[in-house]
Amino acid sequence: MHLLLDSGAVNEIREASSWGVIRGATTNPTLLRKAGVESITRFVSSWEPSWGTLHVEVFAADREGMVEQALRWVALGKPIAIKVPCTPEGLAACRQLAQRDIPVNVTLVFSLSQALLAAEAGATYVSPFVGRLEDHGMKGVQLVADIRNGYDRTGVPTQILAASLRNPQHVQEVALAGAHWATVPWDVLQKLFHHPLTVDGLKRFDADAAHLQD
Ligand code: G3P
Repeated sequence: MHLLLDSGAVNEIREASSWGVIRGATTNPTLLRKAGVESITRFVSSWEPSWGTLHVEVFAADREGMVEQALRWVALGKPIAIKVPCTPEGLAACRQLAQRDIPVNVTLVFSLSQALLAAEAGATYVSPFVGRLEDHGMKGVQLVADIRNGYDRTGVPTQILAASLRNPQHVQEVALAGAHWATVPWDVLQKLFHHPLTVDGLKRFDADAAHLQD
């Protein structure tokens, strides 16, 4: 399972990318606003291709507007995927973009039926929101497993990108449930590194290394 950073903050993306553990970033209007981004066009323009793929979300109300926004951002020549909501207009836009070989991430997915529709519309990625389902007392990780099972039974090529992950346990569980990708917020990415035995082991190695030459 590959990782993406769920963030609109360039400093976070740059640093996580330098660690060699992410293959790009996912954004949405909320994350961009939180990061102080005012123009998506400027944000896409500043994207470094070495950071991987940038998933950027359209926010127009209808399919024509969504396709227009997407084509404008694609024309900037960066490695991007277009996020569209799992609505009739969003899926109509997905179909049109997929016909132009533009990778589309269908987002705000909360059921297997929505994931099946996204696949039919030609989505490259489908994003089930694990944490938000759990906020409403439903089983988010189980949805990832169900989508994987449903897709595999008929050879659907759409890749599952688990989103709305709130802790390291979510990341581990969606990997075991068959997600191809997981997008993780900055704080969760940091926690993925952490293990008390690594900290303790490093302390002991450092103490002994003080008596050695390289
Ligand atoms: O990519 C968007 C998604 O990860 C949102 O997460 O925590 O706002 O439910 P959250």
